[in-house]
Amino acid sequence: MSERFNLLSPEVRANPYPTYARMRRESPVCQVDPGGMWAVSRHDDVLRVLKDPQRFSSQGFRDITNPPWLGGNPFADSMLVMDPPQHGRLRVLVQKAFGAAAMARLEPRVRELCRQAVADLPRGRPVDMMQPFALRIPAAVISELLGLDPQHSPRLKHWADLLTGGVTTVRPEEEERKQRARDAVAEVRAYFGDVLDARAREPAGTDLISELKQARVEGEALSKDELIAFMVLLLVGGIETVVHLLGSSLVVLREHPEVWAQLRADRSRIPAFLEEVLRYEPPLQAAPRLTTEDVEVGGVRLPKGASVLVLMGSATRDEAHFPDGDRFNLSRPGPQNLPFGHGIHFCLGAQLARLEGRLALEALLDAFRHLESAPEPMTWHRTLLVRGPATLPLVLNPA
Ligand code: HEM
Repeated sequence: MSERFNLLSPEVRANPYPTYARMRRESPVCQVDPGGMWAVSRHDDVLRVLKDPQRFSSQGFRDITNPPWLGGNPFADSMLVMDPPQHGRLRVLVQKAFGAAAMARLEPRVRELCRQAVADLPRGRPVDMMQPFALRIPAAVISELLGLDPQHSPRLKHWADLLTGGVTTVRPEEEERKQRARDAVAEVRAYFGDVLDARAREPAGTDLISELKQARVEGEALSKDELIAFMVLLLVGGIETVVHLLGSSLVVLREHPEVWAQLRADRSRIPAFLEEVLRYEPPLQAAPRLTTEDVEVGGVRLPKGASVLVLMGSATRDEAHFPDGDRFNLSRPGPQNLPFGHGIHFCLGAQLARLEGRLALEALLDAFRHLESAPEPMTWHRTLLVRGPATLPLVLNPA
C-alpha cells in the first residue's frame, strides 16, 4: 500500500471504524500519520504488544504528551508512562484505593452525586448532556476521591483536556495553543502544590492525597513532583475516559430506543450494556508504546525506537473475535476487558468507571421515560487517543 492512513484526518476522527477495518484487512501493522507511528490494529497483535512491556515501553506516552516545546508535563512523569520496576513500586501504593472495599465505601456517595446531576437536568427541552451529566459526574467523583473542593471541578476537566488532547493535536504553527498548554501545566502544578501545602498544615485525612502523602516507597516518601504526577494521572485517567463512556452510552441509547426500553424494564442489564458500549466505542482508542529493541509484530519487523500506536478502538471490532462487530448488541457475551487495557498497566479505575456508569444510568432511567435527539446535531471530540461526543444535545421526557 502506498498511501498512508491519516488517523487525524477529519473523516477518520468523525468515524474511525471503516479505516480501522481496512487496516486490519490490508495492513494490520503499518506506518500512519501523524508522524509515521506504527499502528497495530488486529486484536491478537494488540494483546501481544500490551503484554510485553519489556519490548514495548510505555515511554511512548511521554513522547507524545511532552513535546520539547511544552517544557514538562506532569502527566508524562506519571506511573502510566513508567516501565518495570519503577512502575510496580508506585502502582502498589494506589491499588488499594481502587479495590472492591474502597468501591463499596464510595458507592453511596457516587449514587448521591449522580442523582444530584440528574435532578438538575432540564425537562422537556434541549440540553447538551456533556457538561451537566457526562462531565459533571466524573469530575465530582474525582474531587471526592482526592478530597478537593467540589467548586474546582470545572477547572479539573479544563486542565485534563489541555494536558492531553491540547498537547497531542497541536500543529507546529499553533503558537497560541502551545501557550495555553504551557499555562495549563503551570496552573496545575501551582494548584496541586497548594493542595499539598494545605494538607501539610492539616491533620491527615482519609482522602487519597492524604494517604499518598503518608505512603513510603522503599522507606522514602514520594516527592512533591511525584505526588503531583499521580494526581494529574488520576485527573486525566478518571475524567477524560468516563466522560466519553457516559457520552457514548447516551449516543447508543438515542440511536436504539429499544435498548433504552429494555434497560428501563430490567436494570440488571445495565452492566452488560456498559460493557458493550466500551467495546463498541472504547473511550481510550489507542495507547502509545516505544520499542526497546528490533521486534516483530504481526509479521512486520519494527526497528528499535519505533513509536507504536496500539489501537484498542480497532481490536474491539476485530471480526475474528467479535462477529458482526459493527453492530451494537446488548446480548453479546462479555465482559471482555480490553477497553481497559491489558497487563501491568491494566486500568486501575476500571471498577470505579463501571460503578459510575451504572449509577449514572440508573439515576437517568429512574428520572426519565424517554430521551430523543434535539434539533441541533451532536459533534465528536477529535483527538488521537480519546473518542466520544464533544456536544450531545438531547431532549429528556420525565417519567
Ligand atoms: C471508561 C473509563 C476508563 C477507560 C476506558 C480507561 C482505560 C484505561 C486504559 C486502556 C489504561 C491502560 C493504558 C495503557 O496500557 O497504556 C488505563 C490505565 C489507567 N487508568 Fe483508566 N480508564 C477508565 C477510567 C479510569 C478511572 C475512573 C480512573 C481513576 C480515577 C483511571 C485510572 C487509571 C490509571 C491510574 C491508569 C494507569 C495504570 C498503570 O499505569 O498501571 N481510569 N485506563
